[in-house]
Amino acid sequence: MLSEQHKDIKNMCEKFSDSEVAPLAEKIDKEAMIPAELYTKMAANGFFGIFIPEEYGGAGMDYTSYSIMVEEVSRGCASCGVLLSAHNSLAVWPILKFGSEEQKSKWLPKMASGDGIGCYCLSEPNVGSDPGAMITFVEDKGDHYELNGSKNFITNGREAKVAVVFAKTRKTDNYKGISAFIVDMEADGVAVQKVEEKLGIKGSSTAQIVFEKVKLPKDSLLGENEKGFKVAMMTLDGGRIGIASQALGIAEAAYRVAIKYSTERMAFGKPISGLQAIQFKIADMATKILASRLLIQHASELKDKDLPYSKEAAQCKLFASEAAMWVANQGVQTLGGNGYIKEYPAERHFRDAKITEIYEGTSEIQRIVIAGNELKAYR
Ligand code: CAA
Repeated sequence: MLSEQHKDIKNMCEKFSDSEVAPLAEKIDKEAMIPAELYTKMAANGFFGIFIPEEYGGAGMDYTSYSIMVEEVSRGCASCGVLLSAHNSLAVWPILKFGSEEQKSKWLPKMASGDGIGCYCLSEPNVGSDPGAMITFVEDKGDHYELNGSKNFITNGREAKVAVVFAKTRKTDNYKGISAFIVDMEADGVAVQKVEEKLGIKGSSTAQIVFEKVKLPKDSLLGENEKGFKVAMMTLDGGRIGIASQALGIAEAAYRVAIKYSTERMAFGKPISGLQAIQFKIADMATKILASRLLIQHASELKDKDLPYSKEAAQCKLFASEAAMWVANQGVQTLGGNGYIKEYPAERHFRDAKITEIYEGTSEIQRIVIAGNELKAYR
C-alpha cells in the first residue's frame, strides 16, 4: 500500500502527465523529439532531481516516489519516461552513491535543475549483455587521464551534458579492470557519432558516442580504480526498477485505451466489452498491471530501506516489461484494425513496450540474475 505522501506524489504526477505530457505524445513520436518547453516543465516539477538531496538542489524524495513519477510520466509518453529514468537512476544515482563531496557539489545541482541531463555509457558496438568484454580504455597520463573508445545505444546521448562512463584502466578479458568515470560531454574529443532511428520511444535519443583522446581531470574517477563493474551493476539494479516503472506506465496507457474502446465499439448489437472474448483480455490486462505495480513497489521499498534488492529489481523489470508487451499486444487486438493504424495510440504503445524487454538488461539477463540469487540462497 502506498503511504499518504506517496499517494499525493502519484496524484500530482498523474495530473501533470494528463495535462502536460500525454497531449504531446503523438507529436513526440512523430517528430522524434521532446519539445524544450516540456523539459522546462518537468524540471520545474523537480523531476530531474527527484531523489537528489535538497542540499544539492533536488527534491530529496525516495525511490518509491521516483518509480511513481516514472510510471506516471511514461503513461503519458514513454520517451519522456525513459529520459527521466536514465537521467535519474543511471547518471544521478551513481554520482550520489559513489561520488566524492567535490563531485557531488560539482554535478548534482546542474543535474537537479535539468540543465545537466545525464547518460550512462556501458554498452559498446560489440558489447551488450557482457560488459566485462568492453574495450574502451582510460590511460593514466600522470596529471590527467585519457579516454578512448566508443559506446553504443546510449539513452539521452544526444542531450546529455554529463556521462557516467565505464572503461578499462587495466587491459583484461573480463570485468576486473573496469573503472567508472564522470565525463563532461562538452569536453574536446567527445562526439555524438550517430542517433539511432528506432521502432519505438522515438522521442528519446539513443546515440553512439565516440571518445577520442578525451582529457579527463584526475578527479573524474568515480569510486575506486578497477571497481567500476560493481558501480555498473549496482546502478543497473536501480535502473531496472525505473524501466519496470516505464513498462508499467506503457501497460496502463495501453489498457486504458483498450477498455475505453471496448465500451464504445459496437459489434453483434452491443459494445464489445459485453463479449467474453474481450472481458478475458480486460481481466488479464488488469491483473498483470496490478502484479507489475506490486513487484515495483516491493523492490522500491527494499531499496528505500537499504535492504538487498538486486533480485527483486530484476523480477519487477522482467515481469513488468513482459506484461507491458503482452498488454500492448492485447490492446492492439482489442481495437482490431483500429489498433494497427496511427489514428489510435494503441500501435505506439505496442512499439514503445518492446524496448523494455531489451534495455538495462534483456529478459534473459534478468532471468540469469534471478536464478543466480535463488540458487545462492538455496545453497
Ligand atoms: N551488485 C553488486 N555487485 C555485483 C552485482 C550487483 N548487482 N552483480 C554482480 N556483482 C559483482 C559480483 O559479486 C562479482 O564480484 P566479485 O568480483 O567480488 O566476485 C562481480 O560483480 C562479477 O559478477 P558476475 O560473475 O556475476 O559477473 P558476470 O560477468 O557473470 O555478469 C551479468 C553478470 C548479470 C550477466 C551482468 O554482466 C549483467 O547484468 N549484464 C547485462 C548488462 C546490461 O544490463 N546492459 C545494458 C545496460 S546499458 C543500457 O541499457 C543503455 C541505456 O542507456 C539505457
